[in-house]
Amino acid sequence: MAFPPSFIDELVARNPIEEVVSQYVQLKRSGANLFGLCPFHGEKTASFSVSPDKGIYYCFGCHKGGGVINFQMEIEGLSYPDAVRALAKRAGMEVPEDAQYQSRYRRQERLWALHKEAARFFHAQLYAPVGAEGLAYAQRRGMTRGTLTRFGIGFAPNSWSALVDAMRAKGYTDQELRDGGLVSEKNGRIFDRFRNRLMFPIIDVRGNVIGFGGRVMDDSTPKYLNSPETDIFNKRKNLFGLNLAKRSKLGYLILVEGYMDAIALHQHGFDCAVASLGTSLTQEHAALLSRYTEQVVLIYDGDDAGQNATRRAIPMLEAAGIGVKVLRMRDAKDPDEFLRKFGADRFKVLLEEASNRVEYQLGSIMRKYDLENDEQRVKFVREAAEMISTLNSPVQREVYGGRAAEAARISMDAMKLEIKKAFQRRMARERKKREQQELAPAQALQPKSRAIRYDNIKSAMAEETVIAMVLKEPGLLEQTKGLQCSEFSSPLLGRIYEELQLRYRRGLEVAAGVLEDLSEEEMSHLAGIVQRHQEPVKEAVLEDCIRIIQAEHRAGQVSSEEDLMALREKFKEQKGMKS
Ligand code: CTP
Ligand code: MN
Repeated sequence: MAFPPSFIDELVARNPIEEVVSQYVQLKRSGANLFGLCPFHGEKTASFSVSPDKGIYYCFGCHKGGGVINFQMEIEGLSYPDAVRALAKRAGMEVPEDAQYQSRYRRQERLWALHKEAARFFHAQLYAPVGAEGLAYAQRRGMTRGTLTRFGIGFAPNSWSALVDAMRAKGYTDQELRDGGLVSEKNGRIFDRFRNRLMFPIIDVRGNVIGFGGRVMDDSTPKYLNSPETDIFNKRKNLFGLNLAKRSKLGYLILVEGYMDAIALHQHGFDCAVASLGTSLTQEHAALLSRYTEQVVLIYDGDDAGQNATRRAIPMLEAAGIGVKVLRMRDAKDPDEFLRKFGADRFKVLLEEASNRVEYQLGSIMRKYDLENDEQRVKFVREAAEMISTLNSPVQREVYGGRAAEAARISMDAMKLEIKKAFQRRMARERKKREQQELAPAQALQPKSRAIRYDNIKSAMAEETVIAMVLKEPGLLEQTKGLQCSEFSSPLLGRIYEELQLRYRRGLEVAAGVLEDLSEEEMSHLAGIVQRHQEPVKEAVLEDCIRIIQAEHRAGQVSSEEDLMALREKFKEQKGMKS
């Protein structure tokens, strides 16, 4: 996937990072940088920075960063070549032929096309004689014709090769069927993975069919069989139904657990429902949701697993800047069952009653304790105060404090005192944590990622400064010629330095955003270095840094030589003792 370096240089030059980012994030200028809300982790205060002159972005919150190509990759979930292709298109540039790149992109396109064909095939089977049982089951579950069409529901016949045969006839290879996870294999022979199941196509936000969930029509197990992870399917990054829900006019999204729940909700007019794909909610899901809504109603099953999932999902959604309401299922185990039993109007009442997360949490705490028991009442007050003390609004503290006091049958004053004490305890804890962090400055300077740990902090700081300065003024690479990449203590920084030297000598662009051989993590780290080192370029500082790096390098060599000598001595001694 190597593109000619000069092509990449031009691509980066013709796609100013602030323009590309602005298509997704509203930016405000502040000095040399632009700031906005990070599109990757969702937040309420702007810690996402873009530096037009350096050609990089960096988030001080989630530490993601990189050049314009990295940004395009991250925001659209594209591979490197696809991001390059998208930027080339944006700038009206022709992409130079590259066999490997072409083939990889084509492979993905083929998988999408294959899945679309497969979905068509399954859907057609539903209305064919072999699908009678599937159609009957769908109808028994209350799905209307319109719903079957809207969701592209289908049926996988009870056959080892129905899909394989149909797709081969369409010109798809066995390897493509394997790559798509649509077949299983035994003794070198492939056969249909999905058999005798009602099929739910999983469709991404852009409308591509990327996988399937298949349900048995009786009580056998597994109840659902899903597509495995493939080049086009990642369940941590996709939500069932979002392709439809993103167009809803309701102004919020409903998040449920099951395919059937999402489908039933849509059929009853709640066309804003999405389902996580049999996994717990991920940060990627939360970030994805935050692109389409500011308000999510969480409906998980009433059992313990569902309640735990709810508790985990709330902070994740709130961290992404999403307001959360929680709907507790009553008189039915899930929304699908509820709708069938009681209808849409009763469900609307539940929705209107859906409490905000504070009510929900207070309710859960209340249910944990037996409030008739004095000892338990004391514990309840303490835990409730703990939770209420985290609320920023005094009105909220007053309201929920009042409710907790009432439940525990204590006075409002006593409750207020408890909340105040809980608040002070938390502040003390946080202060202690801060102090500990300040006492360990070397720890604070360590990269977030363990893969990029610095062995020698002193040298690494000098190395960071050198890299930041030469990126600001590539001409300085002339002066640092005496510094060898092998003298760097950090392998990553050494590699970056070597690459920059090489590019400089070849007359190529020297900038963070054009480096190709860095992983996403390494690129973020580099962007962080560039944003952190804002000190003006001074040759004296640069020379100091070079001196430090070389001195530390020599000291390291000496000490490892000394270690070796010492070891040898010890070895001799031991041998002497034995003989
Ligand atoms: N799931 C799965 N594999 C299973 C069971 C469940 O992937 N063996 C996922 C599916 O996405 C399913 C969701 O978890 O939709 C919720 O499971 P469950 O509540 O059991 O399924 P429902 O969608 O409610 O299906 P049904 O009403 O048909 O039982
Ligand atoms: Mn169900």
